[in-house]
Amino acid sequence: MPTQTPLLAQVDNALLERIRKARHLVVFTGAGVSAESGIPTFRDAQTGLWSRFDATELATPEAFQADPALVWGWYEWRRMKVLQAEPNSGHYAIARMEQHIPQVTVITQNVDDLHERAGSQNVLHLHGSLHQPRCFDCATPYQLDSVPTEPEGGRRLPPPLCPVCGGAVRPGVVWFGEALPTTVLPQAFEAAASCDVLLSVGTSSLVQPAAQIPFIAQQHGAAVAHINTQPIISKHSDDWMLLGVASVLLPKLETQAFSNIRP
Ligand code: APR
Repeated sequence: MPTQTPLLAQVDNALLERIRKARHLVVFTGAGVSAESGIPTFRDAQTGLWSRFDATELATPEAFQADPALVWGWYEWRRMKVLQAEPNSGHYAIARMEQHIPQVTVITQNVDDLHERAGSQNVLHLHGSLHQPRCFDCATPYQLDSVPTEPEGGRRLPPPLCPVCGGAVRPGVVWFGEALPTTVLPQAFEAAASCDVLLSVGTSSLVQPAAQIPFIAQQHGAAVAHINTQPIISKHSDDWMLLGVASVLLPKLETQAFSNIRP
């Protein structure tokens, strides 16, 4: 009976060497990097948000216009879960990479602030943030209270009204059918095109244009490694695939790459 190879036995020295020599590392993350902080992912079969809620009823401008209280209540429930959550050891390992590598860019699809709370300094939010709501009509940013008055389980909660124009305040996230922030996407593509190594962590790599990012890095000669509990079928054949949970694999990757190098 072959023994189960240790998780990181798969990481050959070629990848570790590329990480050690990197001048610019990009870490591209999805919901899976926050899963062990207790924040639901979207597409995990049993626990994903889209398996329990209908994305078209909650994550589109039309859904908000049809029932602002339903959508606002759901996002306030998600914001409360984020405020109750803590960064996990995967977030901290990503932040510590800045001690070993001259330039680290985190490109996240997540709308939580766990990368920032773990200490990452350069975080690009492709899909916005739960912590930056704005007026649906005039786009004036709205200052939220620190603790959301969320209803249990995301029941209906009327959104606050914009102090400038009286319009309904909406979550500061990018909904299906909406364009990504005009400045962030080019910055993310530029970082992917200029990095030496890209770690794609905890994303199903299904949603465009974000899913292009690992391919852009690979096309420009970067080493690309996917860290996921499931194999990524769509990855490029040259990419590494590290199967396991981010909170275990990322600290181990950091240790194996830099254990003999003191920051
Ligand atoms: N460690 C590593 N990977 C994990 C873990 C974990 N602990 N838990 C789950 N995963 C993986 C799953 O196998 C899956 O591939 O994380 C991925 C999560 O995928 P999704 O739920 O699709 O989340 P994400 O890829 O971030 O979705 C992208 O879709 O709904 C939109 O705007 C939303 O930003 C989101 C986008």
